[in-house]
Amino acid sequence: MAIEYFRRPHHDTDRSAMDADEPYFDQSDDDGTSSDVSDDVVEVRSDEIPQYFEEREGRLFHSHGSSPYPLPVDADEQQRQNGLNRLLRRLIGDSSVGPVRELLAFATGEQRRVVDLGTGTGQWVLDMAREFPHVRFYGVDIVPIATRYPPHNVIFEIHDIMEPFRYASRTIDMVHARSISMAIRDYRALLQEVGRILRRGGLFVSCEWSRVPAMADGSDIALRAPRVHAFFTAVRETLRMSLGIASVAQQIPRLLEESRLFTNIEAKRFHAPIGDWPTDPEMKAMGHEFREMMVVYARSMREVLLGGPYAAHAEELTQGYLHDIHTVPGIVSTCLTVHARRV
Ligand SMILES: C[S@@+](CC[C@H](N)C(=O)[O-])C[C@H]1O[C@@H](n2cnc3c(N)ncnc32)[C@H](O)[C@@H]1O
Repeated sequence: MAIEYFRRPHHDTDRSAMDADEPYFDQSDDDGTSSDVSDDVVEVRSDEIPQYFEEREGRLFHSHGSSPYPLPVDADEQQRQNGLNRLLRRLIGDSSVGPVRELLAFATGEQRRVVDLGTGTGQWVLDMAREFPHVRFYGVDIVPIATRYPPHNVIFEIHDIMEPFRYASRTIDMVHARSISMAIRDYRALLQEVGRILRRGGLFVSCEWSRVPAMADGSDIALRAPRVHAFFTAVRETLRMSLGIASVAQQIPRLLEESRLFTNIEAKRFHAPIGDWPTDPEMKAMGHEFREMMVVYARSMREVLLGGPYAAHAEELTQGYLHDIHTVPGIVSTCLTVHARRV
């Protein structure tokens, strides 16, 4: 199966206007074949792939006109995303928080479906697809950086998550949204659309890194690691002022509550060490790897800073940040997870 992309039906672009009970997937979809993609998506031809990318300053970015997502999507970033996928699995102890096993358990005559928003390299989807071979997974992104040859139960699609999904109302069992806070400006609108496609009792899972790291002992990072604080303050302000991206991670439980579409909303925090300062050998190894990923992140974010109000200090801020994460023990980055059930 090659990468496919969503082609908006000409007659009706807004599926929210459809009858909530109208099935989009017919029964032939449930036999493990790709019949569910035949009408609404077409295969991306190899010669079309380059149009999804643009090169700037020797790095590869998405070429999507309206997504504010500022990071490159090249090999370094893909490696970082895959590293974070492994790290999160160790940190959380599973591929996801929430009652996933119970929700996706095999049930005769029922096809379970999971959608991953901003899937990137699709590593989370591929791991899940191996664990749940009877479940069908859809990974959507604006760039085709996932494998072109996924297993039989995975479909990667090109789709802008700020547009209505092609899936009919109430047909999806789980929607997974990880590290997409820089991809969207209107999280409220996204939750409405997620609420539309999830079936009653379906699960929404979000996982976002807090925008600014903290100190493991609760002390003030602005005092203990001032250059980390300065770098992330500049990042946060640049994202807000230049790209209109707010720090949504802390707001997600409230937005879910306010939507009135979700219940059993549970938020959790997981702290990942940055650097090899922990004494526990496993955490030490994790912290070491995480710092390597932070170095890649710093290089990518420096490019973003160069395009905003902190441009003149981008280099100094980046070097200061790198210095602190190599010299100050006790810095952690917090992953905020939320899971909730569709009412
Ligand atoms: C930080 S990566 C996260 C990838 C993946 N969720 C993970 O956790 O490994 C964010 C992804 O969102 C994608 N993205 C950005 N804007 C998007 C949009 N409007 N619609 C769909 N995907 C988008 C980017 O191309 C990128 O692959």
